[in-house]
Amino acid sequence: MLNWDDPLAAARTASPGEDAPPPPATPGRQPTRTRPGSGLLDNATLMSSAGAAPVVSPEPFAQDAAQQTLPIDERPAVAPAGAGATGLESIALGAGRIRVDDKRIINCHADLNQLVPFKYDWAWQKYLDACANHWMPQEINMNADIALWKDPKGLTEDERTIIKRNLGFFSTADSLVANNLVLAVYRHITNPECRQYLLRQAFEEALHTHAYQYVVESLGLDEGEIFNMYRELPAVARKAEWALPYTRHLADPHFVTGTTTNDQQLLRELIAFYVIFEGIFFYVGFVQVLSMGRRNKMTGTAEQFQYILRDESMHMNFGIDVINQIKLENPHLWTPEFRDELVAMIREAVELESQYARDTMPRGVLGLNAPMFEEYLRFIANRRCAQIGLPEQYPGVTNPFPWMSEVLDLKKEKNFFETRVTEYQTGGALSWDD
Ligand SMILES: [Fe+2]
Ligand SMILES: [Fe+2]
Repeated sequence: MLNWDDPLAAARTASPGEDAPPPPATPGRQPTRTRPGSGLLDNATLMSSAGAAPVVSPEPFAQDAAQQTLPIDERPAVAPAGAGATGLESIALGAGRIRVDDKRIINCHADLNQLVPFKYDWAWQKYLDACANHWMPQEINMNADIALWKDPKGLTEDERTIIKRNLGFFSTADSLVANNLVLAVYRHITNPECRQYLLRQAFEEALHTHAYQYVVESLGLDEGEIFNMYRELPAVARKAEWALPYTRHLADPHFVTGTTTNDQQLLRELIAFYVIFEGIFFYVGFVQVLSMGRRNKMTGTAEQFQYILRDESMHMNFGIDVINQIKLENPHLWTPEFRDELVAMIREAVELESQYARDTMPRGVLGLNAPMFEEYLRFIANRRCAQIGLPEQYPGVTNPFPWMSEVLDLKKEKNFFETRVTEYQTGGALSWDD
């Protein structure tokens, strides 16, 4: 669809309350006006509507003073043997009703078809936040991008390379994430409120692939070239190649959780996708494309990426909560050796993504250069380590892109068990009255 056709134009002109009422004002906080198609926003404004669900502590063992006195590998194992339920078991007529205490994030045998009673409020709240932030790629006007792309003098070759490489990487990366989610991760997360979010996330991944396809079609790019980049261009291929082995266990129909080895395998593969693939491998591309938008170039594409980034930030934070909850319920998994291995994975990923920065940006462009990205990746790797309770790896690094802003991944660090985030996002984050 090359012609701009805003499917929600009628809703936009309707008076507030006719289609959807504006969200109730939150004390001390200005209502956000985040609306796809309204143009680029500063990141802080957009991300303020990303939601601020309570999060799981990255140091769950610190909650229990008695446990703290034990070396981590001597703490009691609490995981039951055997894989969890799937939700497709025969109905147990007359079985006892589900209690909150029956619910567990993995290896749970309680009926998975009953959403309530809730145990993991953070998961349900993230589901609500994600629904409140619904958007569609066609809502964003691509006309300026089409004109700029077609103007032979509109963009430099380096700028065109950045757009094409990132479309090449993301267009297949989001499909890979979606397939991993549905075919590998979902079966092993034995909790209905978490599965509710996973289903929402799966749809968002489909929207992201749709957004990339929409940009490719709008700009008249060679779709064969873009969608095959991850098989033809080493810089793009390397990241997918790195990730694919981390779907192998969870996607294996014979793989079941319930042993220490296999539950660590689950954690390892969750960390590979949520913390590294979505939490590190996406960020060079996000910075590059958003930098272009900040210079008033490819603003429609940048706006698409901005909404995708908001979604991805939530995906990553959800994954981190799942990881920390699994740790909390299965402290025997988090051994020193396992933590060392995870640190090595993260350090390897930083090197790989730094290489992607060098490959996509052989020269300085848009005021950016590859060394700035190396610093940035080390900065966000430190954040990722802190978020899952691993030691900081790159002391002293700073954020060279403060405009990407702490709101992306820093604002949700408050400890779920000590306090709840006060700037709580209610439903209806999108303003419909402009
Ligand atoms: Fe995505
Ligand atoms: Fe995602």
